[in-house]
Amino acid sequence: MKILITGGAGYIGSHTIIEILENTNWEVIAVDNYSNSSEKTYRRIEKITGKKINYYNIDLTNLSLTEKVFYENKDIIGIIHFAAFKSVPESVEKPLLYYHNNLNSLINILKCQAKYNIPNLIFSSSCSVYGNLDELPVTENTPLNTPESPYAYTKQIGEKIVDDFIKINPTLKAISLRYFNPVGAHKSGLNGEVPIARPNNLVPYITQTAIGKLEQLTVFGGDYATNDGTCIRDYVHVCDIAAAHVQALQKLISDKNFPKHSIINLGTGVGVSVLEAIHAFEKVSNQKLNYFIGNRRDGDVAAIYANNDLAKKMLGWTPKYDIDEMMNSAWLWEQNLNKKQ
Ligand code: UD1
Repeated sequence: MKILITGGAGYIGSHTIIEILENTNWEVIAVDNYSNSSEKTYRRIEKITGKKINYYNIDLTNLSLTEKVFYENKDIIGIIHFAAFKSVPESVEKPLLYYHNNLNSLINILKCQAKYNIPNLIFSSSCSVYGNLDELPVTENTPLNTPESPYAYTKQIGEKIVDDFIKINPTLKAISLRYFNPVGAHKSGLNGEVPIARPNNLVPYITQTAIGKLEQLTVFGGDYATNDGTCIRDYVHVCDIAAAHVQALQKLISDKNFPKHSIINLGTGVGVSVLEAIHAFEKVSNQKLNYFIGNRRDGDVAAIYANNDLAKKMLGWTPKYDIDEMMNSAWLWEQNLNKKQ
């Protein structure tokens, strides 16, 4: 059984490929254009799993190139569509880049899904679709607020596109997974996030500061209405996220009664402030981090964390790792990455 993974060389895509190769007999076809990743990721996957994967270097905003993958692999039974730009601040600066890339690639994937009658799709969505909320934790029924960034809009619109599309295609099914904040690395320390430029996300920024690649971490805002004034997020281990994708696809493949399109939160249900995340890192790495409290960042919401009951109920998914294990694996990976350079 072939599974197409778009964004396969990326952070969540690569961990999901590892999870698939280690736990299923599915064959993986990966697609990426290395806009925020590199082909080297596949060597790391092969080293961890001992298995080879087939991959294409393709920009999914190009329909004819996208279609080539489907034409050459007519027996694909599921698509996991990760490929997207994902930086909140960059999307605020370059909205057209985000709308163009994230929406056109999704539309092209759906066109091919319909044309080649691929029954199952998993779409990477994000908790950012909820916008700023008064009531926490968020359930999937929480009405969506105005997104805080163009990135978040692409995910909100993306879910709607998937929904409208699945409705009119009787043989197709989808699950949209709303990730909270995926962090951490594979337990081997051999695969993790590789920010191409200066990282935007908190955890790679922390580990790069600790190793000395970056001088100092700025905590974006210390005056939010939270316990310690810093933003609260639901950090979730990337390997837990990867496992959820496998479970979701297994459900779609095996459970004929599974709904046409489900939208499911993937978070631990635990809110962690930026300062608490820093302190967890300091504890597991046994060193002090150089940081200061600076201004707020555009596009940030104050606090968000998940109610994950639906993921438990529908997918049988329970996250295994806590913030210490997330920081520990991220730190191991950063140290290994540094050794090789
Ligand atoms: C956002 C989205 C998330 C998406 C992710 C993709 C929201 C609520 N979440 O995560 O769904 O998957 O982008 O990239 O929009 N921070 C600092 N200093 C730094 C970097 C970050 O203080 O140098 C703080 C941020 O202000 C934030 C927290 O750390 O409070 C996490 O930030 P980040 O890792 O960038 O992720 P989000 O923006 O929460």
